Amino acid sequence: MSTVPRIEVTDLRISFGQGRGRVDAVKGVTFAVAPGESFGLVGESGSGKSTILRALCGLAPVSGGEVRVDGVPLDARRDKAFAAKVQMVFQDPYGSLHPRHTVDRILAEPLAIHGLKDRDGRILRALADVGLDAAFRFRLPHQLSGGQRQRIAIARALILEPAILLLDEPTSALDASIQAEVLNLLTRLRSERNLTYLFVSHDLAVIDHMCERLLVMRGGEAVEALEQGHLARREVRSDYARRLMVASDGFVRPAGRSPAPL
Ligand SMILES: Nc1ncnc2c1ncn2[C@@H]1O[C@H](COP(=O)(O)OP(=O)(O)OP(=O)(O)O)[C@@H](O)[C@H]1O
Ligand SMILES: [Mg+2]
Repeated sequence: MSTVPRIEVTDLRISFGQGRGRVDAVKGVTFAVAPGESFGLVGESGSGKSTILRALCGLAPVSGGEVRVDGVPLDARRDKAFAAKVQMVFQDPYGSLHPRHTVDRILAEPLAIHGLKDRDGRILRALADVGLDAAFRFRLPHQLSGGQRQRIAIARALILEPAILLLDEPTSALDASIQAEVLNLLTRLRSERNLTYLFVSHDLAVIDHMCERLLVMRGGEAVEALEQGHLARREVRSDYARRLMVASDGFVRPAGRSPAPL
């Protein structure tokens, strides 16, 4: 019995600009993500990873191909129901959190937009879910560490109880020990809530640790499809993936070893 993929991307093409200034950022990429799966996109800078996530959210133009969520093709408009189902976490929690809004206001905003009741209860639960106590509620982003800021960004993404998180380099701005904490948090949240992740990173070790399957991207194309452990065991076919592994000199973690637990 086959289940409908949670996310299905078919021959996706994304171009910016026209004429001589035209950039073909994504050139026909196809993949499907099953419910509850964590799927990775890895590749060098400019390979089109963020553009795919942005297109899923309606933040980048789809020039060709199709995107389906739970079997339903997405049109250009993203409605409220879509926001309640699909949420994105960005790399830079400084940029993605309003600098003059308290944590309380940041977390309350999606609740207000979606007309959800029990504001206080939901905000306190959202903080607890990401391992922060109630004292953080009235802080401003600059009064938080990088890791705490990213926990708030994750809490905001989860407060509408979405099924899918699009994670664009969610730990790349954090130092190694904090990165491991946030990755462990994301792993726990996924299993507790049966979330589906589409996880973007240029860090092969992070992707190999976090994702059951992944695509290696280059220049807007999918070069190679891999499964968890292939990278750690150096089981890649393309020269490009091999070069990425060599360039990623931090990628020395043996298979099965995960970042330090919380
Ligand atoms: N709004 C835009 N207008 C024009 N070109 C764009 C736009 N957004 C992205 N691009 C181009 O599309 C290509 C893919 O960019 P994208 O941001 O998806 O790469 P990436 O794989 O996420 O890279 P990184 O690892 O550096 O984040 C790049 O050549 C980029 O310059
Ligand atoms: Mg990017």
